[in-house]
Amino acid sequence: MARVRTTWAAMAALLTVMGCRGNRSNEPPVHLQQNMDFQERGEAQERNDFFADGRVMRPPVPGTIAVGYLKEDDHLWRGRLPNGALADELPAGIELSAALLDRGQERYNIYCQPCHGETGHGNGPATRRGGGFAVAPANFHQQKFLPVTLGYFFDVASNGKGSMKGYKAQIPVEDRWAIAAWVRTLQVTGEASVDELPEQAQNQRPRRIQ
Ligand code: HEC
Repeated sequence: MARVRTTWAAMAALLTVMGCRGNRSNEPPVHLQQNMDFQERGEAQERNDFFADGRVMRPPVPGTIAVGYLKEDDHLWRGRLPNGALADELPAGIELSAALLDRGQERYNIYCQPCHGETGHGNGPATRRGGGFAVAPANFHQQKFLPVTLGYFFDVASNGKGSMKGYKAQIPVEDRWAIAAWVRTLQVTGEASVDELPEQAQNQRPRRIQ
C-alpha cells in the first residue's frame, strides 16, 4: 500500500514539474542562483541619500581630464610660446605644404569667407548684403594686420575678437592652423606685384577689391 502511495506521489510531482513546460506565464522565472543579476541602481536625475549632495549622477572629480583631452601643447592648442606670446610659426607636426594651404583655403571659404570675403578684404556675401554688423568684418590687407603673428589669426579663429565669435567648437585645431596659414597667404598674395605672378596669370589678375 505504501509503495502504491509513493508511486502516486512521485508521478504527481513529475506531472507538476513536466506539466507546465511550454506553457506561457507572466510571472518572472524562478531565479535560484541570483549572481549579481538583481541589484540596486540609480536612474538618471534620481535622488540618493548615500551621497552628501543627494545626487545619484556623480560629477567628475575636479581636475578630471578625459583621455586625449589634455591639450598640454600650448603652441598647438592656444597658439602660445612658453613665454605666453603668440607664436609666429606653425606648431610641430603641422608642416607648411600645398596640401595644408588647400585645406586652409577650403575651410576658410566655408567658415570665414561669408564675412571676410574670398580674398580677405572684409567684403563677403554676408557683409555685402548688409549683414547688420555694428563693426565691419576685418580686411586682412589693412596695414595694421600685416605684421601680426600667425598665432594671432589662430587665436581669433579660435576665441573670436570684439564682436566676432570664436570657431573653436566648430573647427578642429589642425584646420584652424590651416586657416591661419591661408589668411597669411591671402595677405602675401595681396601684396604681390603683377611681375611676381606667373606670366599666364598676369593678364587674368582680377581687379583688386577695396
Ligand atoms: C559672421 C561673420 C564673421 C565670420 C564668419 C568670421 N568673422 Fe572674423 N570678424 C568679423 C567681424 C565683425 C570682425 C570685427 C570684430 C570687431 O572688431 O569687433 C572680425 C574680425 C576678425 C579679425 C581681426 C581681429 C582684430 O584684431 O581686430 C580676424 C583676424 C578675423 N576676424 C579672422 C577670422 C577668421 C580666421 C574667420 C574664420 C575662422 C573669421 N574671422 C570668421 C566677422 C566674422
